[in-house]
Amino acid sequence: IPADLRVRLGETVADVPPRLFGGFVEHMGRCVYQGIYEPQHPSADSEGFRADVLELVRELGVTVVRYPGGNFVSGYRWEDGVGPRSERPVRLDAAWHQTETNQVGLHEFASWAAQAGVEVMQAVNLGTRGIEAAGDLLEYSNHPGGTALSDRRRANGAEEPFGITLWCLGNEMDGPWQIGHKTADEYGRLAAEAARYMRFLDHRVELVVAGSSNMEMPTFGEWERTVLRHTADQADHISVHAYYEESDGDVASFLASAAGLDRYLDTVAAIIDEVREELGLQKQIGISVDEWNVWYQRDWNENHKDAVLSGGWPEAPRLIEDEYNVTDAVVVGSLLISLLRHSDRVTMANLAQLVNVIAPIRSEPDGAAWRQTTFFPFALTAARARGRVVPLSLDVASGPTAKYGDVELVDAVSTVAEDGSVSLFVVNRSVDSVSALSVELDGAELVLEDALTLTVPEGGDRFTTNTQSSQPVAPVALAGVTVSAADSATRLSLTLPPISW
Ligand code: AHR
Repeated sequence: IPADLRVRLGETVADVPPRLFGGFVEHMGRCVYQGIYEPQHPSADSEGFRADVLELVRELGVTVVRYPGGNFVSGYRWEDGVGPRSERPVRLDAAWHQTETNQVGLHEFASWAAQAGVEVMQAVNLGTRGIEAAGDLLEYSNHPGGTALSDRRRANGAEEPFGITLWCLGNEMDGPWQIGHKTADEYGRLAAEAARYMRFLDHRVELVVAGSSNMEMPTFGEWERTVLRHTADQADHISVHAYYEESDGDVASFLASAAGLDRYLDTVAAIIDEVREELGLQKQIGISVDEWNVWYQRDWNENHKDAVLSGGWPEAPRLIEDEYNVTDAVVVGSLLISLLRHSDRVTMANLAQLVNVIAPIRSEPDGAAWRQTTFFPFALTAARARGRVVPLSLDVASGPTAKYGDVELVDAVSTVAEDGSVSLFVVNRSVDSVSALSVELDGAELVLEDALTLTVPEGGDRFTTNTQSSQPVAPVALAGVTVSAADSATRLSLTLPPISW
């Protein structure tokens, strides 16, 4: 497949939003317990956090982490997770049918986040609770002292406020599976009042209102319009949640998932514009893709969900611990391309989740922690997408897909750092053909620093995964890259293997 690409160095889409490389820690399965926290683990620090996991989190390059849910937050009482650990109540978590010991809560997570070097994105419960609990949590977290709530924080060991500015107003409230599920009008009103109260308490807050749980929801579109009409003057961002999977062997559609995300983001951006115009709103409202990933949701829905939700109440059960293969990693890389391409509208994005639960990092109790295949495209993009996103002109053939129609077989995005170094992120979505890619940088002279690829490893196939005992999938040097003089410019020629990022 020949592909011709021109990087339009002189133009800018937007600066790379640092929060585009977010993660997500939910009290779900083994994400918190046995994931980030395992006091008995040989690598545990004095607070019970696993140092091996922390090291991988830092290497992954996440900048902001959403917490504590997810569906979990819609039944959560934040007060359960503060104060002496021995006095914290054990509760049923109805979202995931698990027992919550509350040994990790607000203070512990803030401390972990500081160690990981990430910003906290805190979600409030708008399922079973309302504006008072949201305001209390904010005051407890951010007020310096001298009030009952802030002094309680100080008495619990945090003299200084946590200074959390980024807040999610509920989670997936459009979904009938959500505890305290609401109509768009019910949620919109509640979110608007929670936002107003929170801003009265602390004018610095940045607020994310909940958009649809996915693009296939019957209320998608109308939900966003209604919620924005209620909250537009208070909302800074509206959320998008997007999960993709390969189903019925339709690998072409799966590899083209970014075309689905492109459409989802373009649609939400158009709705924001429409409501802004209708309301005469001057400010922009960003898109917070605060849950995205590959997730084999059909397997969960058809084979596990009913048993889990009607079974016992285990502590830290193994829930949706998807083992990712090469194809999944290539799709994750391509979804990052779509997110970067939309950096004029997407203000943040959170790979869901961080450890064990549909995660780039896996860990075993009393055992090792390791990088799943999807770790690598995320870590490389977070490390190398710097400066501003620049537009591209790409000339390449399309292939048919059942889900998204004809989709270009190669996709790319490029960033330019302040020092002029260019990063190019490219995916070959063809299952069986190499792509011969020719790149020109707007006439600029080109010196190649390095070229890496993530693809099927020697002796493996597209289903190869990384496990505790063997991790064959990792980026390798891309062979046969050449730089040649062409007309007045230099050209980069690359041969991209099938299914490669
Ligand atoms: O990330 C897993 C779950 O997916 C989250 O709890 C929920 O918000 C979404 O449906």
